[in-house]
Amino acid sequence: MSAHSADLDDDRETGVLVVGSGIAGLAAALGAARELDVSGGPAVTVATKATRPEGASSWWAQGGIAVSRDDPGQFKADILAASADTADPAAVDVLVDNANEAVQDVLIDTLDVDFDTDEAAGDDWDFTREAAHDEARILHVDAATGRAIHVPFLNYLDDHDGVRVLDDTAALELVTHEGRVHGALLERDGEVTPTFAGATVLATGGIGDLYPRSTNPHGSTGDGIAMAALAGADVADMEYVQFHPTVYVGDEAEDDAEPFLVSEAVRGEGAVLRNGEGERFMPDYHPDGDLAPRDVVARAVQKEREATGEVVLDVSGVDFAGEFPGLAEKCEARGVDPAAGIPVAPAEHFLCGGVAVDDRGRASLDRLYAVGECSRTGVHGANRLASTSLLEGLVWGLRAGADAAGRDPEVVEAPDLLDRDPDLPDNFAREKFVRLRRVMDEYVGLRRHPDELGRAQAVLRRLKGEVDAYVRTRTSRSLYELRHASVTALLVARAAAENDRSVGTHNLVEDAAESGAD
Ligand code: SIN
Repeated sequence: MSAHSADLDDDRETGVLVVGSGIAGLAAALGAARELDVSGGPAVTVATKATRPEGASSWWAQGGIAVSRDDPGQFKADILAASADTADPAAVDVLVDNANEAVQDVLIDTLDVDFDTDEAAGDDWDFTREAAHDEARILHVDAATGRAIHVPFLNYLDDHDGVRVLDDTAALELVTHEGRVHGALLERDGEVTPTFAGATVLATGGIGDLYPRSTNPHGSTGDGIAMAALAGADVADMEYVQFHPTVYVGDEAEDDAEPFLVSEAVRGEGAVLRNGEGERFMPDYHPDGDLAPRDVVARAVQKEREATGEVVLDVSGVDFAGEFPGLAEKCEARGVDPAAGIPVAPAEHFLCGGVAVDDRGRASLDRLYAVGECSRTGVHGANRLASTSLLEGLVWGLRAGADAAGRDPEVVEAPDLLDRDPDLPDNFAREKFVRLRRVMDEYVGLRRHPDELGRAQAVLRRLKGEVDAYVRTRTSRSLYELRHASVTALLVARAAAENDRSVGTHNLVEDAAESGAD
């Protein structure tokens, strides 16, 4: 990733093991390192599959990071409203009450992130607004905020005596003993070794690889959620999978380039959605029109695409190239003329549920923590408010890291995967992933029908059985990613089937014919 590519064998014991290197994982590492005596060398280990910063979803975040400004009460009200009042008010209090301080302390004072300022406002921060926010409260750097935070954060920890980062390193299983988590089995270059930890923090991000179109980077296979669930930890709200309404997906038949997100901030600045007949349609769906909550906009975009052939984002009312130079470049690279409207479609974006944790990121198993997208803090309920994911990762990461610090690692018996055949035929994984994504797309997407959720579970159970049979005799990273994806997909489908209340991102339709086209 950069200079920090420590050796897996250097030290098999660590105070805190963080799995994942997005903003939540980095904040957890920082939170732990600040608590620990690091004079004896690194007391915190970050293990990440990523080989480049782009491997973490945080790097891709566009819109920004919301703060409370002077009105945490209104911020809380907006989060609860976007979630259709399903978010946990106590968890939301933790977020809004800690937002300003965490951003000031870590992002501004420690990392010196160069957030955009507004000359007209005397060079104060240029707060922007996104859908379902009552006021402009989002700090941003162009529409490329994630990387502007993530890269200095990685560099900072790189230079930190208390932290070592193992890149290109996958966690395959948690090491548990008598209900307590003692670290994880880590794989690098085909070699598998246990790392024993006083506490283990999962920060493995989302589940984009479970769907054919996603804004997440590849490798988003739900690893942390699956490992935690297989070890017996509680998971919650798994049915709440958020689709972003405005993603350029290209020509799906011919164009295999990656989809790219067109930030909600563009609508926040005045862009509007139009259907294939050139008509604005959002005012017919919601009183807040183009700035309605994300789940409402995503379903409306899908419906209008089906009815009229396409939906475009009309940016004619926005200084697009001036305000969003990064997005303008992406359009140019893909041959899209923004003046003609940017074709958009919904794509999987964020999992609101995950490993169930408390206000310090503690999971239901002793010494296990989860932060960021793989966790379920209760902040998002059934639908997440824009630009709260980096904030949640930062606030819970710091809290979890601080709480996790201070316990000595214990060496216990770890699962022995060493003698297994490392080879997994490539076509096995490819074929299974295609099947898994098709099922998730058709039956567990934007709109769901109870019968089809039953069908999805049956197919996913069979698929998981086939993968499990391989796992008994083989060990490879791609096999474990497939295993984690199949376990996580089944958790999503099961939670969706068990919830008969259509709310937020979990949208039940009465006619099965309406659900399959996502
Ligand atoms: C966006 O920029 O539209 C995405 C922001 C988010 O997911 O919070």
